[in-house]
Amino acid sequence: MGKGLICGEEAVTMPDSLGVCLKCIRGKMRSSKCEADVNMLKDEILYLSKADIERLDISMEEIISVVEQAFREKAKGEVEVPPKPGIHPQKDAFIHAMPAYLPNMKAAGVKWVSGFPKNPERGLPYISGLLVLNDVETGFPLCVMDCTWITAKRTGAATAVAAKYLAKEDSKTFGVLGCGVQGRSNLEALLVVCKELEEVRAYDVSAENLQKYVEEMTAKHELRIVPVDSPRKAVENCDVVVTAGPILRQLSPVIEAPWFKHGGFACPLDFDSYWKPKAMRSMDKFCTDDREQLKYYRQQGYFQDIPRVYAELSEVVSGEKFGRENPEERIMAMHLGLAIEDMATAVLVYKKAKEKNVGIKLPL
Ligand SMILES: NC(=O)c1ccc[n+]([C@@H]2O[C@H](COP(=O)([O-])OP(=O)(O)OC[C@H]3O[C@@H](n4cnc5c(N)ncnc54)[C@H](O)[C@@H]3O)[C@@H](O)[C@H]2O)c1
Repeated sequence: MGKGLICGEEAVTMPDSLGVCLKCIRGKMRSSKCEADVNMLKDEILYLSKADIERLDISMEEIISVVEQAFREKAKGEVEVPPKPGIHPQKDAFIHAMPAYLPNMKAAGVKWVSGFPKNPERGLPYISGLLVLNDVETGFPLCVMDCTWITAKRTGAATAVAAKYLAKEDSKTFGVLGCGVQGRSNLEALLVVCKELEEVRAYDVSAENLQKYVEEMTAKHELRIVPVDSPRKAVENCDVVVTAGPILRQLSPVIEAPWFKHGGFACPLDFDSYWKPKAMRSMDKFCTDDREQLKYYRQQGYFQDIPRVYAELSEVVSGEKFGRENPEERIMAMHLGLAIEDMATAVLVYKKAKEKNVGIKLPL
């Protein structure tokens, strides 16, 4: 214990490292002179379940806006987002630790997220996990939330941010391979930036999943949702293509270079599992969301045969590098998923939850 900080007129004894008034942390007194946000620094955290987060009614427009802002911050070099370490308890499964800090968005925290490919056979979602949001002044945990909603929405939002700069503005057809959670959220997000979308060509290895997707998306969006019976039909003549099947260690990619039209924009979410190396090499521009993360994955054995990276999404968003320059270019954005997207969205979720008094307070 050292000499404490002055809070109001009063000196209190507290650990120097804490840097804020101990009394305020305990919520016993408030002072305009104390810099700490007393509401945030009680001995408690807010817990938000998936249902709590869904109740907040956060729009995809809002998520796209904070995710785009996160990429602007990255372009300024003002974020910390180390490559995500992972453990792999089952074949093709992962549990990743994803920390990030965005000073200007006052966002700091970590997502602990797993993807287990056998879960759907057990009637469980592929993705599960938690996100911890920390106070940037004290490091104290503020909130623990389910991360499945955030993972679905922010990934769609990142695709939409990329499409805003890299897809043709008048894109009309969307091909989706893998009609699960991401197939849904990516369509929702793309509709915000590709206002002229008319038709979705949907492919899934599971006839049941495909049928559910067609029914749900037809009811939700004013679009033609056309089921197709081969990957090729979901790629050919599509202006935007998202692949969202499983990430595989043993690759058996099927998408061939000539299937992908000139002027197309592709966003693989399943790494290099779906696109043949030649197809990726046929792109005029090959982008990614993070070079360091890509390098890290290469060391882990993924992405052994990919083209040179033209730009990171942050460089395109900030105008440092050109996005789409003509209607003939074929462009791919290899999205690995970044924790800056999660933390930027988590701050939005946390603020809304506090405004609306949603969630359960738990003691620390
Ligand atoms: N890059 C990112 O930021 C990011 C974020 C989240 C998820 N992902 C990845 O996105 C992918 C999809 O995740 P999800 O949560 O939507 O999973 P999900 O289980 O909800 O959906 C996957 C769908 O793909 C189908 N499928 C399986 N193999 C297929 C194949 N060969 N061709 C077509 N469809 C196939 C399944 O039947 C299922 O309907 C996963 O690979 C996941 O790791 C990436």
